[in-house]
Amino acid sequence: MKKKILIISSSARKGGNSDTLCDAYAEGAKSVGHEIEKIRLAKLRIEPCLGCYACEKTGVCAQQDDMAILLPKLKEADVIVLASPVYFYTLCGRLKNFIDRTLPLYPYEGFAGKKWQLIISAAEEDKENMQHAVGDFMGLMECMEEPVIAEPIYGIGAWKLGDIKNKPELIEQAHRAGVNA
Ligand SMILES: Cc1cc2nc3c(=O)[nH]c(=O)nc-3n(C[C@H](O)[C@H](O)[C@H](O)COP(=O)(O)O)c2cc1C
Repeated sequence: MKKKILIISSSARKGGNSDTLCDAYAEGAKSVGHEIEKIRLAKLRIEPCLGCYACEKTGVCAQQDDMAILLPKLKEADVIVLASPVYFYTLCGRLKNFIDRTLPLYPYEGFAGKKWQLIISAAEEDKENMQHAVGDFMGLMECMEEPVIAEPIYGIGAWKLGDIKNKPELIEQAHRAGVNA
């Protein structure tokens, strides 16, 4: 079945390690006929959540910025890929900020059964050290009804721009995850 896949890439670096894993995932998914849209958060203006709860009453955020483009895309997607570099052992602020700004969708009606894929990249080689980042992501999953959560893709040992290209097995893993989206 053809699926709609939304990839949210939060690296500050175009062609960054997590961004490259997103591209491998997208290629895999495309190769089996899925519809892909990849968004780089760094190109958008998304302010932090004001915590004003205006959205609780109106369903709409009080702030007018690019998040308004993304909320309908999240609703429409069958598979949502969230990608982040690991910063100080957790998700980067840009992705966390994006997650906070999904509050107008709370309690995420219509999200049951959507599939979620986390992609993270880090300089360190040890997956254990990336578990805070996975935990942050799981905070969002706690709010979903029956989420289908794919095994995270760990882009380990990737520090400088392009380092991930020296890890063909990880690129292949991301490609395969896309094929099996
Ligand atoms: C502010 C900052 C904090 C970082 N913190 C960590 C860290 O805690 N653990 C780690 O392994 N790498 C850390 N790194 C390295 C990045 O996770 C690594 O370069 C990653 O591959 C970047 O992903 P990107 O190329 O997709 O942006 C940090 C990098 C920056 C800029």
